[in-house]
Amino acid sequence: MNGSDLKMLVAEAADLILSSNKLVVFTGAGISTESGIPDFRSPGGIWERFDPDDFTYSKFISSKDSRRMQWNLFREGLLSDKAVPNAAHIAIADLYKMGRLDCVITQNIDNLHQKAGVPDDMVYELHGNMKWARCLECGRRYPFEEIKGRLEQGEEIPDCIACRGMLKPDIVMFEEQLPVDVLEEAGYRSMAADLFIVIGSTLTVYPAAYMPIYAVRSGVKLIIVNLSNTPMDRHAAVVINEKAGDTMTSIVQTVQEKSGL
Ligand code: APR
Repeated sequence: MNGSDLKMLVAEAADLILSSNKLVVFTGAGISTESGIPDFRSPGGIWERFDPDDFTYSKFISSKDSRRMQWNLFREGLLSDKAVPNAAHIAIADLYKMGRLDCVITQNIDNLHQKAGVPDDMVYELHGNMKWARCLECGRRYPFEEIKGRLEQGEEIPDCIACRGMLKPDIVMFEEQLPVDVLEEAGYRSMAADLFIVIGSTLTVYPAAYMPIYAVRSGVKLIIVNLSNTPMDRHAAVVINEKAGDTMTSIVQTVQEKSGL
């Protein structure tokens, strides 16, 4: 994409934000790659190195090897407390500070939107998060910090210290039901929005990927910022196949300039 085309698309996106009163931002793993967290389906992504079939809930609870592999994945790739928000997260937090954000709906478990400054109650985490691990036997919860420490001291499969039961992080694994209250509210917000921005997602995993579909079916305008094409591109008013960090920074800077901030 040449510079003048990009500049035009950035200006168009900024104008849509300026004329919106209910902006919903929907994010996937691609927004966090510039924070050093690998995404899933880009070349070199997590599902190139690990087999997603090994990461189902039924495997986690039935196979010690699968639990070892999943905890190792958290230690190696998804333990994102080392990761810091990048320019794209910060740009979204700036939209919140400007009073222009209704909410963020994210598939990510890395807590980076909150670390960038979006209040927790404005972030709908469809696939859970890495804040807690829970004992599947007695229900006791552990802050993930504590579990991370045990993993880093070499424990391979942390268990409940109270009852020796199986610990599972509060993320949604394949085969698991998404948190119903979060899913319902995210669906409602997607339909009630007047502008829906997708950032860093292949839009291929459901039910999360229904959100932009609900929005478009309700007449909501769609912007997509994503390095690769998505199934929703043809429904979008603006598609920018560039990196999220620079793109979102340019868009928000243009919003600030145009609104005299
Ligand atoms: N800027 C913009 N887009 C990017 C960037 C970047 N810096 N880095 C990667 N991308 C794009 C990729 O081109 C890809 O289209 O982000 C997208 C990431 O897609 P996926 O890896 O499929 O991630 P996501 O859509 O979030 O996956 C959904 O799948 O495995 C499950 O639970 C997991 O929540 C995850 C779900």
